[in-house]
Amino acid sequence: MLKAHRLGTGSDILPSMLLLCLVTSSLSTLTTQNSLPNNGLTFNFYDSICPQVEPVVSNVVSTFISSDATLGPALLRLHFHDCMTRGCDGSILLSSTDGGKTQPEKEASVSLGLRGFNVIEAIKAQLEKECPGKVSCADIVALAARDASIVIGGPFWGEPVGRRDGFLSRSTDTASVPKPSDTLPTLIAKFAAAGLNVQDMVALSGIHTIGRAHCVSFADRLANFHGTHRPDPKLNGTLASFLRSKCNVHKNSRVLVNNDFVTPLVFDNQYYLNILSGQVLFSSDQELLSSKKTRTIVENFAGDASAFTAQFITSIIKLGNANVLIGSKGNIRKTCDSVH
Ligand code: HEM
Ligand SMILES: *[C@@H]1O[C@H](CO)[C@@H](O)[C@H](O)[C@H]1NC(C)=O
Repeated sequence: MLKAHRLGTGSDILPSMLLLCLVTSSLSTLTTQNSLPNNGLTFNFYDSICPQVEPVVSNVVSTFISSDATLGPALLRLHFHDCMTRGCDGSILLSSTDGGKTQPEKEASVSLGLRGFNVIEAIKAQLEKECPGKVSCADIVALAARDASIVIGGPFWGEPVGRRDGFLSRSTDTASVPKPSDTLPTLIAKFAAAGLNVQDMVALSGIHTIGRAHCVSFADRLANFHGTHRPDPKLNGTLASFLRSKCNVHKNSRVLVNNDFVTPLVFDNQYYLNILSGQVLFSSDQELLSSKKTRTIVENFAGDASAFTAQFITSIIKLGNANVLIGSKGNIRKTCDSVH
């Protein structure tokens, strides 16, 4: 109840009462990894030390997305990858921490296509002018993802803050990030390690209703799937031939394909309808039909857009709590790509 109250009064950009209802109703199902709500993150962390943090993040995010709409999905994905590796500690932003000896997370193959680092640095630079040494890069990533959601017409949620930045970034640590070829049990285990259950996993995956992918992320499904000399039988044949032509024509190129070919720019529940009709890009998306438990959730979200939105809000707040550094752990960086 305390949190619901805080969300209702402490956020200056709540767009509508409808969203307020979604946020408050979803909070009743909110669970966290330890006994502290939001793992110790709070909604008022910056109120006295940098009250302008939310308007600054929101302004920079809107400015960047208005000149390049593809940065919206990119910022949401950046938050996911940050939180899935060593927790939400800004480690995804770091360049090599030892002069190139260790490859950082952002150079791992699972990081293919990650973008938006320049948006985070622009926010950081402005915040270092306004309240030097106060706002963590990890919080900037989380707030930028939330604001990206608003700008692209997705849901609003109050984002708890107070994260501190980590010191390490190693590509080997990205083994914890889900891969498009992962099986359902592997996906479930990777989300569980971040404190996320099956319901969270299915709801968060719904973000693949926006954004794009490189051919290499689903090419294994287009021909000779698992050594069968055939495409993945679960992939709709019409979509498979479209993808084959699109990817072959642009061999070795950086060609990008929309995740949701029906409503590629709209934050809606179309992703779940696409799963049911075999028209999603990644094996990991299609895998959500392979157990009764996950299939039931997919069917529920396919038929009920507001159930999806409510669960997405609950689950993305949980994602933002994953293994966070708080209090005296970690530090506050001066720029987000290096530890000093
Ligand atoms: C279930 C596990 C997941 C897997 C295996 C996965 C995998 C991928 C892959 C392979 C891409 C395309 C990368 C490329 O080829 O450039 C992608 C794109 C994307 N993913 Fe996921 N993802 C998962 C869950 C999530 C979650 C939970 C989020 C955020 C809440 C997310 C957000 C995005 C976004 C927004 C894009 C589009 C990025 C862009 O257009 O720049 N994904 N994902
Ligand atoms: C594949 O999708 C197309 C529409 O995109 C549809 O006409 C066709 O019937 C689908 N094929 C199968 C086998 O479901």
